[in-house]
Amino acid sequence: MNVDNGYVDAPIEEGIDLKKEIVRLKQEKNAIILAHYYQRPEIQDIADFIGDSLALAQIAADSRADIIVMCGVQFMGETAKILCLGKKVIVPDMSAGCSLADSCPADEFEKFVKAHPGHTVVSYVNTTAAVKAVTDIVVTSGNARKIIDSLPSDAKIIFGPDRNLGHYINIQSGRNMLLWDGACHVHEQFSIEKINALKEQYPGAKVLVHPECRKQVQEAADKVGSTKVLLDYAVSSECDTFIVATESGILHEMMKKCPEKKFIPVPPEDGSCNCNECADMKKVTLEKLYNSLKYEMPLVEVDPEVAEKAVRPIKRMLELSK
Ligand code: 13P
Ligand code: SF4
Repeated sequence: MNVDNGYVDAPIEEGIDLKKEIVRLKQEKNAIILAHYYQRPEIQDIADFIGDSLALAQIAADSRADIIVMCGVQFMGETAKILCLGKKVIVPDMSAGCSLADSCPADEFEKFVKAHPGHTVVSYVNTTAAVKAVTDIVVTSGNARKIIDSLPSDAKIIFGPDRNLGHYINIQSGRNMLLWDGACHVHEQFSIEKINALKEQYPGAKVLVHPECRKQVQEAADKVGSTKVLLDYAVSSECDTFIVATESGILHEMMKKCPEKKFIPVPPEDGSCNCNECADMKKVTLEKLYNSLKYEMPLVEVDPEVAEKAVRPIKRMLELSK
């Protein structure tokens, strides 16, 4: 079977109903399909659960399925695998990486950690398993504040790899964490100029911002939070119009949950299109999902020694998130 490009490249029977077949295969194999909010709408619609990084890790950890299909990017599949070593974990397109995880090579991060002894190492979930293996506690954007607040007030902390989320937590918690200089190339594309222009066009709209956005963009927000936090805010808010500065896939669930409200995606700084997409998140298609379930490939593999070290900070996060 050819998986050279990161996904099963096999012909699909002509005329089959892909969605029906995915559901059939899933039931037959006791598989569960998890999808991040940035996935294509049709993938979100067929998934058993959609969620932010925290929810996806929690659901994977508690799952009784034999196969976990993670429709997301590599680090999400790795996290699920580390939590469920005995299970098959599939990412339908394993070439789906993450620019933020890439901005933190494990060997360089380890050197950074060694150069600052006496620090508690806190890593964002958007990291490789090897980075998690040299981490004390993993966090997501949904629980970072809570977890940092749980550490002693005089704790010296290294936070990596996202400098923007790190900055946000520093401001919120009054800490002075030492930040790794990494970022997500999708969220760094949001500019304050575009947001201000939209605010003029839609006076009264609330601005929703993911903490991976730059400092100036965070400062323009009515709400900063993980994808799930932003979604919940939109649902419970009395406002009917929202300017959304995160990957535009989240708009699908926002519009489903609030069909009467208006959601405006913030375009990237360079104005190349009307919304800002993570190309890696969009790699999973129904065809790749179908073939991955059919052939049970590509499977996420994590070096057992790395997994043994990486599982501790992930489990610590899950404990502290309860
Ligand atoms: P969330 O945990 O907010 O879903 O974020 C994941 C991510 O990759 C953001 O770019
Ligand atoms: Fe990574 Fe950014 Fe894509 Fe999220 S949006 S998966 S942080 S590249």
